[in-house]
Amino acid sequence: MTSYRIAVLGGDGIGPEVIAEALKVCRAAGAELDTVDYDLGARRYLSSGEVLPDSVLDELRRVDAILLGAVGSPAVPPGVLERGLLLKLRFELDLYINLRPFQSSARGVDLAVVRENTEGSYTGEGGFLRRGTPHEVATQGSVNTRFGVERCIRFAFDLARSRDRHHLTLVHKTNVLTFSGDLWQRTFDQVAAEYPDVTTAYNHVDAACIYLVESPLRYDVIVTDNLFGDILTDLAGAVSGGIGLAASANLNPARTGPSLFEPVHGSAPDIAGTGRANPLAAIISASMMLEFLGETGAADRITKAVSDYRQQSHTEVGASTSQIGDAIAERV
Ligand code: NAI
Ligand code: MG
Repeated sequence: MTSYRIAVLGGDGIGPEVIAEALKVCRAAGAELDTVDYDLGARRYLSSGEVLPDSVLDELRRVDAILLGAVGSPAVPPGVLERGLLLKLRFELDLYINLRPFQSSARGVDLAVVRENTEGSYTGEGGFLRRGTPHEVATQGSVNTRFGVERCIRFAFDLARSRDRHHLTLVHKTNVLTFSGDLWQRTFDQVAAEYPDVTTAYNHVDAACIYLVESPLRYDVIVTDNLFGDILTDLAGAVSGGIGLAASANLNPARTGPSLFEPVHGSAPDIAGTGRANPLAAIISASMMLEFLGETGAADRITKAVSDYRQQSHTEVGASTSQIGDAIAERV
């Protein structure tokens, strides 16, 4: 197997705890990972004021992939790490796809959400006028480019084509967001004409919330914008096994640089250090990393080990973070 250079950003709280298990499992599956640890997140910010130094960003541009645990602490003001680290990495490395798979054999759920990851209302377009006065104004724009929307939709069609059901649902709010919604719908319809083997549907985002809870089996692949995707994927996680299982890949499918893989959850300060963090989301994220690097054998062994473990683990309630990591490592 090829050896890969992986930047490891364990982060804060349970981040380093779950990433240690993910690396343990990757190595047990035969992956040769040359890892470099980077100290980024709340701890570094609080001790030095640094969030993402340019020199670190330059080093990150040159690795094969980035594995991130979680960053954040109640002591850091909102937005500092989200905008300065997480979103900055997505924009700077052009990680334009946020791919989040959801599976629950108990409920029969098997779907993937493709979230646009570099545009929409997360670009920071907007500002204040007369801030702090009774007449203050705040605007927050949503940026949608034909280029950005189309590359996201094309990725989703390719993904749908590669899966069993060949079905893709566009989720938006075209009835109210008539400008961005129109761009998304027109682009979707034009690209759909090139994929006659993929069946399509459209749901307004509010209806999609009902369907995800009441009839999630209707979905195969969902494609949506940055904000709707952020919210829908938390909901999808909750209906398919919980936050401890939700994995994600921030992809640069053009491969002009590394992609970044991370569990959806945060640093969970309430359970950090207790050994109660579920490492499965980080483990599944790491298997997505191996798959994207082309190590499909190792990736498949890990996903199969995770699903075997989940089928049996109802008898093992209360297993610790490292016990779960060991159990998966034994099965790969
Ligand atoms: P959180 O995801 O850290 O925790 C929410 C709840 O889920 C907590 O009760 C926690 O104990 C539980 N939980 C989360 N992951 C778990 C796991 N693997 N196993 C078992 N239980 C788990 O979200 P919260 O509390 O809103 O944020 C905590 C910090 O994390 C904040 O500073 C926030 O900004 C940051 N955060 C960072 C993210 C990232 O690095 N990508 C994403 C979300 C939040
Ligand atoms: Mg979120």
